[in-house]
Amino acid sequence: MELSITPAPQPGAWRRRGVASDNDLIKKIQAEVIMSKRKAKDSHFTVGECISQVQRLLRERFCHQQLPLRPLGMESQHKHLLELLRRTAVHGESNSVLIVGPRGAGKTMLLNCVLKELLEVNEVKKNVLLVHLNGLLQTDDRIALKEITRQLHLENVVGDKVFGSFAENLAFLLEALKKGDRSTSRPVLFTLDEFDLFAHHKNQTLLYNLLDISQSAQTPVAVVGLTCRLDVLELLEKRVKSRFSHRQIHLLSPLGFERYLEIAQQQLSLPSDFPDHKFCEDWNASVKALCEDKSAEAVLQKHFNASKDFRSLHMLLMLALSRVTVSNPAIRPADLLEASRLCTADSKANVLHGLSILELCLIIAMKHLNDIYDGEPFNFQMVHNEFKKFIQRKSHSVHNFEKPVVIKAFEHLQQLELIKPMDGSTAKTQKEYQLVKLMLDHSQIMEALQKYPQCPTDVKQWAVSAFG
Ligand SMILES: Nc1ncnc2c1ncn2[C@@H]1O[C@H](COP(=O)(O)OP(=O)(O)OP(=O)(O)O)[C@@H](O)[C@H]1O
Ligand SMILES: [Mg+2]
Repeated sequence: MELSITPAPQPGAWRRRGVASDNDLIKKIQAEVIMSKRKAKDSHFTVGECISQVQRLLRERFCHQQLPLRPLGMESQHKHLLELLRRTAVHGESNSVLIVGPRGAGKTMLLNCVLKELLEVNEVKKNVLLVHLNGLLQTDDRIALKEITRQLHLENVVGDKVFGSFAENLAFLLEALKKGDRSTSRPVLFTLDEFDLFAHHKNQTLLYNLLDISQSAQTPVAVVGLTCRLDVLELLEKRVKSRFSHRQIHLLSPLGFERYLEIAQQQLSLPSDFPDHKFCEDWNASVKALCEDKSAEAVLQKHFNASKDFRSLHMLLMLALSRVTVSNPAIRPADLLEASRLCTADSKANVLHGLSILELCLIIAMKHLNDIYDGEPFNFQMVHNEFKKFIQRKSHSVHNFEKPVVIKAFEHLQQLELIKPMDGSTAKTQKEYQLVKLMLDHSQIMEALQKYPQCPTDVKQWAVSAFG
């Protein structure tokens, strides 16, 4: 086989063409470098790629408990807790503190932010030991002690030893943590989430021992309790309470609406290091416009009035975010409205959407019975009579079902807990005569009827007509 070989350019070929050609080449190369740099800078992502980036980034922010750079609106509490824990971690002072605030107020987040900041110091990171306990998981002191042993990596040290008391066991664990020369101990930070639940443990042994150590000079420990119960101290036994430092950090300051609106905007905005600069600018501008829109503001105001915490705000924003697509690359006020509707949706009214027409008719019959008998309980036979009256007099579209079919439908409603048997009615009573109660109110039924897909007009009219 023959190979055609193109002659290699001779060295100095460019040079032979003269100085001008050299300059041209350099210019050309420079231009190319500049071009490629520019491309990297505003790297052209497609709208679809940008949107999936936005979804990923904001979902992490809303759902993955991602820590904010700084906790918003709790600067003084942050400083207080950081100072307190630093004293234990760096200076070996023992301490105890309670962080008290309603659900979703940011107790866990505040503690995690402080721990993160504390552990950024290398010295502290090497020295301090952390033990996280949660009242929902460690439901008694024996489990809690096992968990402490595990988190301190002392299972091997404990081995099969048998201890007389809880206190001995804990003391042994802390002793084992002492350094080689046995003069200094490593500081241990105990965090007790759902602190109030630990107060229900027998004799409050764990709390007593931890707080007792935090009072004596043995090992430097800090005990941080997180709770949403304001009256938590009332739950503590006298000997436990007296060992607590009575330091409390409250996260109760309610945000004003102005601040809430600012936070909503901040939470939806993209950071400046977002890969596509242009998209980031557009997105942030659209978020700003959204938060200035009157109807969006009304939705947020309604949400704010219902609950002021971040968790429910995140839920709302998350639902609005999920409506962003390539054809709708920004959150519109209508998306926020829809999200708010979903947040406040009535779960019972939702169940009604899945019912058959027959089941819906039975519900309407029961609504009429409620009107007639003023909310008194009724039985299947009465419901069936109402339904038959409707079929005979008013209905053109609903089929006249056999009684067993109607009974089945009635039982299904009972399974869905839309109707409930009265406590007094015994199993002996024949099924048709057992007293039951409707678990829905008028507005729920009427709303469901409005939304029911292709609901026959005569059924709708029957529902609105007075007394069946
Ligand atoms: N001040 C804040 N700044 C930023 N994010 C916050 C703030 N407060 C709460 N959050 C966010 O709200 C969510 C709920 O907070 P967190 O889990 O800390 O509440 P909690 O008080 O521990 O509630 P619970 O009592 O249910 O444990 C988290 O995603 C958190 O990041
Ligand atoms: Mg928490």
